[in-house]
Amino acid sequence: MSRFSDLVSKPARDMADYFAAAPQVRTGSQSQLIKLDSNENPFGPSRYAIKAMRSASPSSNFYPDDDCVELSRKLAAQHALSIDQVLVTAGSTEMIALLCQTMLAPGLNAVTSECSFLIYDMAVHAVGADLRKTPLRDDGFDLAAIRAAINEDTRIVFLANPNNPTGTMVEAATIDHFLAEVPAHVVVVLDEAYYEFAAHFSALRKVEYSRSLEYVRSGATVVGSDMVVLRSFSKAHGLAGLRIGYGLGPAELLAYCSRMRNVYSVSYLAQVAALAALGDHDHILQAVSNNSSQAVFLTEELSKLGYRVIPTSSNFLCCDIGQDSSAIADRLRDQGVSVRALNGWGAPSSVRVTIGTPEQNDFFLRAIRKIRV
Ligand SMILES: Cc1ncc(COP(=O)(O)O)c(C=O)c1O
Repeated sequence: MSRFSDLVSKPARDMADYFAAAPQVRTGSQSQLIKLDSNENPFGPSRYAIKAMRSASPSSNFYPDDDCVELSRKLAAQHALSIDQVLVTAGSTEMIALLCQTMLAPGLNAVTSECSFLIYDMAVHAVGADLRKTPLRDDGFDLAAIRAAINEDTRIVFLANPNNPTGTMVEAATIDHFLAEVPAHVVVVLDEAYYEFAAHFSALRKVEYSRSLEYVRSGATVVGSDMVVLRSFSKAHGLAGLRIGYGLGPAELLAYCSRMRNVYSVSYLAQVAALAALGDHDHILQAVSNNSSQAVFLTEELSKLGYRVIPTSSNFLCCDIGQDSSAIADRLRDQGVSVRALNGWGAPSSVRVTIGTPEQNDFFLRAIRKIRV
């Protein structure tokens, strides 16, 4: 019998059941393994970030600036927003949790799509609220269905753009229409963790990816609904292990979220590294251009093996291999490469593969050719 099941809060008890089947999150400790399972930057952090952390580390005896003023100021200037429209957090996942703690409670709900970012489930259920999910359409978000799922108890809509794990993107014009229809009691959270990759793909494909900053600048009276945009230093900037990201949104809402934060949640080294990485355009360009050319290559090679690959706007591919993906992921791991089986997302025959360096991708292709049946 469990000692604590009657003592813990209801959300904690329910969450244990809810996530019993959730996939294990792997860490970077398996140094021999080629990690193509968490959509990290295969080129590592910016060298300027490493240098900045080296010179900052002797000051690690001091607590960090809790308001991340220098970084917030820089981000505000870069995005043409005021500093109170920026909230720096311990990864964008902390911002997701803060939004849920600030806006949701038992009896209220958030809406998102099936087969999207699992942290939405965790953050919503942790505060005892409900997460309503609509089916995928064309492998991505169905905004008409999302609109229809909103009721008077809805406070948040989560749109991952591009979506993880499908890699699909919703274009700016479609988001414009959606925002005009969302009722005023709902905040739309536009999760752009993969912004740099999607922006690069969109420029190549001559489509318009995002007008998210315009929405934040104009506010609900012009756009139709309030919006918080999420960005991350974990992906294109290569700082996933430091845990730093940010939200851009209405100053009043971010001030409420800020009150819910754990004090000093963003470390000093993370702030210093993010400041240095922000200006390293060559490093970001290396990541996004390798990604777009390798996406084409990997998609072609996997399609030749008979697998269905969803066209990506991100730094990973979602690939239906037509058989039990967790068994394939285990066998790939035995070959020295780690990918994410998507059974925990309701797609038991699909894997998500981070697009790596050309050498890593070749290694992955050799491994999958070897083990496939
Ligand atoms: C859609 C989406 N949002 C947010 C994040 C989280 O990023 P962070 O590392 O900034 O918490 C991820 C990371 O995988 C993601 O896929």
